[in-house]
Amino acid sequence: MNNSINKAVSSAPAKVILFGEHFVVYDNPAIVAAINKRIHVYAQTNNKLRINIKSGKNSICILTRGNVDLVSIRDKDMSFLHPIFKCVSHVLSEKNKSNIGIDLDIDSQIPYGEGLGSSAASCVATVAALYSLFSDNNRNQVYETSKLMEQNIHKNSSGVDCYVCTFGGIMNYEPDKGFSNIRPKKKFTLLIGTTGVKHSTGEVVSQVKEFREKNSSQFKDLSLKAKAIYKTAVNSMLEGNELELGRMFTENQKLLYKLGVSHPKIEKMIDVCLNSGALGAKLTGAGRGGAIIALLPHDKSTEVLAKISKSPGKWMLVEFDYDGVIVG
Ligand code: MEV
Repeated sequence: MNNSINKAVSSAPAKVILFGEHFVVYDNPAIVAAINKRIHVYAQTNNKLRINIKSGKNSICILTRGNVDLVSIRDKDMSFLHPIFKCVSHVLSEKNKSNIGIDLDIDSQIPYGEGLGSSAASCVATVAALYSLFSDNNRNQVYETSKLMEQNIHKNSSGVDCYVCTFGGIMNYEPDKGFSNIRPKKKFTLLIGTTGVKHSTGEVVSQVKEFREKNSSQFKDLSLKAKAIYKTAVNSMLEGNELELGRMFTENQKLLYKLGVSHPKIEKMIDVCLNSGALGAKLTGAGRGGAIIALLPHDKSTEVLAKISKSPGKWMLVEFDYDGVIVG
């Protein structure tokens, strides 16, 4: 056994879905963007044949043969440590390194289960750190493996979350053409509000699957409308038309409401944003809780934010992230 300890560090950004969540699972386009909140993963090899994963006060320790050795999960919502374990064991076996152990320390600014891509970002950052331990820094491979690993969390994953967490930027996803960068003509001011209601993306995606099976013609109609909104949104970004872009947020939200993925807290927070001068607002990600995004008028963002911030919910202005996953 090699006794030397290798170390690596990586980080990946959170994401928002600007347009097209849920519809993207069924071959429809979407616009996704990375934002300036990150998860950091510090990895090092150990000679104890154990995978130790630590995140704040929570930790799991698993023998590399796969038996759970010791689990110490203090917060009930720390189930995200299990998919991270799967990422580690997958890379170890892919690289024929099942004879070593790994210590991982996770430090995240991304709230878990709130629609901001904590699962995707944790898979991307973990896989990138592990590959880096074995001198492999191929971003495409990081994306492919993370996408596969995210399917352990929800099996119908479209892969858009992992893509944007790996490559960063604002991405236009078209099923027949793949991903391309969108470079908006003007800076847009994006506000995120989190409801505090945690959701399971896998469960919400399954509920939408059921909705689609029971209401196929309604789903087709909603998908066509979502596609039209997406097209207008791409143009309004390219033309720097924030009024139209904001309107598209709100139009997209109406479709998500009909799909059954909204939540009373989401509706309330959206109303607050619209009544305070936001140009548009919608849920982002899977819905049924999680987060909303609102487009603020760029030249009046301070006063609109001041009004919105007085109401319940956690609010944060975010910037787009153009780095994607960073190793080292
Ligand atoms: C979750 O962030 C986005 C969904 O469209 C699922 C997916 O694309 O895999 C709800």
